[in-house]
Amino acid sequence: MTLEMRGIYKSFGANDVLRDVSFSVAPGEICALLGENGAGKSTLMNILGGVLPADRGTVLLDGREAAFKSPAESLAAGIAFIHQELNLVNDLSIYENMFIGRELKTKAGLLDAKAMCARCAGVFERMDVDLDPRAMVRDLDASYKQIVEIARALLMEASIIIMDEPTTSLTDPEIDRVFDMMRILKDQGVAMVFISHKLREVMDICDRYTVLRDGSMVAQGNVSDTNVDELAKHMVGHEVRTQSLRRERELGGEVLRAEGLSQERHFESVSFSVRAGEVLGFTGLLGDGRSELFQAVFGSGGKYQGQLYLEGKPVTVRDTRQAVELGIGYVPRDRKENGIIKDMDILENGSIVTWPRHAKYGLINWRQVKEAFRRQAETLRIKMGAEEDLIGSLSGGNQQKVVLAKWLNAGPKVLIFDNPTQGVDVGAKEDIYDTILELAGGGVAVIVLSSEAQEIIRLCDRAIVMYHGRVKGELPAGEMAEQEIMRIATGA
Ligand SMILES: Nc1ncnc2c1ncn2[C@@H]1O[C@H](COP(=O)(O)OP(=O)(O)OP(=O)(O)O)[C@@H](O)[C@H]1O
Ligand SMILES: [Mg+2]
Repeated sequence: MTLEMRGIYKSFGANDVLRDVSFSVAPGEICALLGENGAGKSTLMNILGGVLPADRGTVLLDGREAAFKSPAESLAAGIAFIHQELNLVNDLSIYENMFIGRELKTKAGLLDAKAMCARCAGVFERMDVDLDPRAMVRDLDASYKQIVEIARALLMEASIIIMDEPTTSLTDPEIDRVFDMMRILKDQGVAMVFISHKLREVMDICDRYTVLRDGSMVAQGNVSDTNVDELAKHMVGHEVRTQSLRRERELGGEVLRAEGLSQERHFESVSFSVRAGEVLGFTGLLGDGRSELFQAVFGSGGKYQGQLYLEGKPVTVRDTRQAVELGIGYVPRDRKENGIIKDMDILENGSIVTWPRHAKYGLINWRQVKEAFRRQAETLRIKMGAEEDLIGSLSGGNQQKVVLAKWLNAGPKVLIFDNPTQGVDVGAKEDIYDTILELAGGGVAVIVLSSEAQEIIRLCDRAIVMYHGRVKGELPAGEMAEQEIMRIATGA
């Protein structure tokens, strides 16, 4: 099906989010939709997906005008939508989620769980992922949820698939498999819209690109005629540097040390230590256990064996409140579930861990809280309306920045970042890297968990590579290379 959007306008109150945007994608074509955080990408796709109405403009499918009043209408027209903020029901199983609204029935009219599970298993097999269709979505980690979302779109046999940052929490081998499947769909004539801040992925899989800046279309063309640097420049409006950022720093004393940390099914005999001013990276493939390891360290991941030392003294972290008191901070991955509180506004979300510091006799000094938040919001260039707006009014990448702002203000001794630049645009990524290095420069011990080899290489003084819950290798800055990291991460 050929899709064409013409002269689309959309405002939220005084905020003109889309101005006269036109966009098209043809059968068998993968078109990238690019732009900084808050440029209007998700909004444009939400209009196509029936989530939001446009103020003006037309949507044409094979030349016929279409206006979707609900996601169900868009879906019925053959448009599948993989949402940026994962859109699964936690209290249902994987197969129930994948068939929601289009359940398969037996001849007798009963739900045919067996057939649905078999169809799911078939897609997972093609994606080469080990998932039980009957498992509850609640028990899945972010990467697997993303895989389920992608699999659901594949199952629908849609003729247009919108992918809004489908790979943010996947690692390279999984991304490769998703791309393989996209190529198959492309050959079958499916039209795809691919939104991503990972420009190398765009170069790899897309045919054409459209760049939005502040709600207007600023560039369009064939991917074969451009390169990563040029795309980045279109997005942010100026050159973006991409060389290594690490500089020699004086390291202080040991801040955090772990000895023989083990937790059944997640990690085993993990030992490491990190010094003041050091940036220590942890990387590996899906299922390497690094997120579970640091959730445990932060007191949010259940019981474990082994011993933690903070500045040389043995500590037991029972819960997150205690972790914060001890000076341990943790920016979680998967912000929708762990990082933000939906019913709170931007300021509350961006300051909650510092409230005790700004409180006297149980009263919070909101003026101080606001000042502190504003400083970080400026450094990180958070694009927002008023601090009192709900966090949900921000674009995905800007929500991520609010979560970062909160922890930067908390002033911890050791700060753990799990996938810190998830969903963040190329320019903002550099701002975040600068901020992390500044923290380290100020004597904070920083731990960065990332599945992006480039992120580890550019940022870290030392990297630990994990495989199936165990430490498989350690690389000093000079020896980090994508191939070497991948070799260790795959258990070779
Ligand atoms: N429901 C809403 N209410 C108010 N403002 C909104 C709403 N949804 C989006 N916006 C605003 O519209 C603008 C564009 O947001 P959008 O989510 O489309 O950006 P995006 O390009 O997808 O960014 P990102 O890369 O961060 O996901 C932002 O300024 C955002 O704050
Ligand atoms: Mg978005």
